[in-house]
Amino acid sequence: MIKKMQDEILRLKKEKDICILAHSYQPHIITSIADHTGDSYALAVKAAKTDNRTVIMCGVRFMAEGVKLLCPDKKVILSHKRAGCPMAEQFTKEDILKFKEKHPETAVVAYINTTASIKTVCDVCVTSSSAVKIVSRLPQKDILFIPDCNLGRYVANKLPEKNITLWKGGCPIHSSITPGEATAAREMYPNALFLVHPECIPEVSESADFVGSTAEIMEYAKKSEKKEFIIGTEVAIIEHLQFECPDKKFYPLSPRLVCGDMKLTTLTDVLDCINGDGGDEIILSDETIRDARHCIERMIELG
Ligand code: 13P
Ligand code: SF4
Repeated sequence: MIKKMQDEILRLKKEKDICILAHSYQPHIITSIADHTGDSYALAVKAAKTDNRTVIMCGVRFMAEGVKLLCPDKKVILSHKRAGCPMAEQFTKEDILKFKEKHPETAVVAYINTTASIKTVCDVCVTSSSAVKIVSRLPQKDILFIPDCNLGRYVANKLPEKNITLWKGGCPIHSSITPGEATAAREMYPNALFLVHPECIPEVSESADFVGSTAEIMEYAKKSEKKEFIIGTEVAIIEHLQFECPDKKFYPLSPRLVCGDMKLTTLTDVLDCINGDGGDEIILSDETIRDARHCIERMIELG
């Protein structure tokens, strides 16, 4: 049944000139019908280059909005209406405008996990894999980094020459992991390397063998000569790594590292989107596109 649905999706997307993008936190059942799978940065770059008239984003809303900003003439559909990222809505455009009034010289750097509305008043976007590089290339010394204070602190530690202000936002899933859980995982798997996403709190990241974005964690585990790894990010990464490296062992840092929003999309949803009967078409005003687009374009340029 599943294979039949996947074949139907593959046939229809070709017939209807549709590109399917899937974030790496989607399960294998979804990534296997996608044209491109990757972290937020890789998907933004792919979206900017795609020729298809329609793009279906299997991920969360800010990712689909990002595609619409880069490709305003394309029809962009979010695979599931309710798939959002709680972190993307922790601050508002008004919060940033108030800050800018007081600190006009400070560059506002927005993690890509933000709404299109927030991006209209920021200077540049970053993803977890490009944040350090992009912030280091900004001419300003003073930076406001929103919304993720854990990723922001990670960037600040790497770039002591910058003066980085942080607000108290973050991913409710990654930031909920405690140092006690990290210690317990290390004790349970003493031969495993510990790989962690920078959205985890510093007390967890500091005890890791490697800190990196989704894509960087996957790359590190694939290239490593070691055979066992504790994965300190969304559990879907374990599934993908196990397919690619059947001779290695991957363990979850915690069974709580599951992003419910990323798990909403089903094959039925994707079929419904293709048939014009599901998901949510992303509609942004011309003004939002005009004002928010530079943020993502600059990210690609500097990254
Ligand atoms: P990446 O930037 O590593 O794709 O992460 C996106 C995300 O939502 C992490 O929680
Ligand atoms: Fe947002 Fe966290 Fe889910 Fe990533 S894992 S989409 S940051 S809630």
